[in-house]
Amino acid sequence: MRKIIVGTSWKMHIHSMKEGEKLVEGIYRSVGYVKEVEMFILPTYPMIPMIAKKLETGNIKWGAQNICMMDKGAYTGEVPPLILKELGCSYIEIGHAERRATFGETDKDVHKKVRLSLEYDMIPVVCIGETEEDKREHVGNVRLHTQVLWALNGLPIEEMKKVILAYEPVWAIGKAEAAGAEYVENIHGYVRSIIEKEYGRDVAQAIRIIYGGSVNRDNTNLLTKQENVDGLFVGRFGLNPEDFSQIVKTTI
Ligand code: G3P
Repeated sequence: MRKIIVGTSWKMHIHSMKEGEKLVEGIYRSVGYVKEVEMFILPTYPMIPMIAKKLETGNIKWGAQNICMMDKGAYTGEVPPLILKELGCSYIEIGHAERRATFGETDKDVHKKVRLSLEYDMIPVVCIGETEEDKREHVGNVRLHTQVLWALNGLPIEEMKKVILAYEPVWAIGKAEAAGAEYVENIHGYVRSIIEKEYGRDVAQAIRIIYGGSVNRDNTNLLTKQENVDGLFVGRFGLNPEDFSQIVKTTI
């Protein structure tokens, strides 16, 4: 039985510590002790210690929006994975479409980051998804197949089961509407079938596949009703406590 998980990435939408404090306090007040759903918040790096303090008690976990693919050394501007672990991060977002498009992150980078997160006992949340062009040219499945294999290949089976895949079709991120629930269910089923074929039924049934891309309080219900949708990854519509809490509560 896969536990439902709802996470939110603040991306760079929250511009000050004060704003971040207010938001995390509001979320904590309304869903801090929900037990039925696993929850996480991914702020920007410098906010992590503040978030960790605010979420010290209760059931909401936190993490980072990225991880360096190297462990330590002369890598100016990067953050050592061990420090993320020391700050109590439980989840690490990897390979978001914005990082792939704007910062040139490749599938191979994603693979290295997945390994490093697991090495430090943090759960990788790996974003996968076809672009608008992939969809138009009917090669979306090829993209997804490649991304899934790069994310998981070579991991020990028990480690593989810990990975969360976040299906985020690039064409549905930052839009007014999410992808349709039926479309999402089909893709999640396809992704699960890739995992089953490559690594066996046990792994395929254990791995959680969540959906992200314009999730809001109105489309949550239909999306999470789908058999292969194990939770949601929320962006803009999680930036106020009422909306995020409502999304969480709707999934129960
Ligand atoms: O990681 C969540 C994200 O990419 C979706 O963003 O703003 O479309 O909900 P948004």
